[in-house]
Amino acid sequence: MEAKAAFDTACASCHGLDARGGERGPDLVSRSEVVRKTDAELRKILTDGKTSAGMPSFASYAPAKLSALVDYLRSRVISHAERRCSLAKRNARSVI
Ligand code: HEC
Repeated sequence: MEAKAAFDTACASCHGLDARGGERGPDLVSRSEVVRKTDAELRKILTDGKTSAGMPSFASYAPAKLSALVDYLRSRVISHAERRCSLAKRNARSVI
């Protein structure tokens, strides 16, 4: 829950409360660019930022907080993938 609070405070203003994208930041849940990244790569984006593109650096965050944010992103991505999977199963059943 703490990670969600951190996300809501620091990231949601750009990426949206559900991380699915907002006015200033892209969707972090369903884009394959994010899904394919390793935890280390996500962490690097958070610490380095992409300041020229509008993504701030969060290098001042404690390592534990960065890990929690990466885990949070992962849990959102996984639950999204599971939803898609169960939807696919339902569609497959209706075809049969
Ligand atoms: C001021 C707005 C803003 C805030 C606040 C912000 N971001 Fe971003 N973020 C962006 C933008 C804009 C991009 C796209 C950068 C680009 O085009 O490469 C981005 C990109 C990203 C990416 C890479 C997505 C990709 O396609 O590779 C990740 C991961 C990410 N943000 C996570 C976070 C997290 C976690 C937080 C909170 C700790 C956060 N962002 C806070 C604006 C923001």
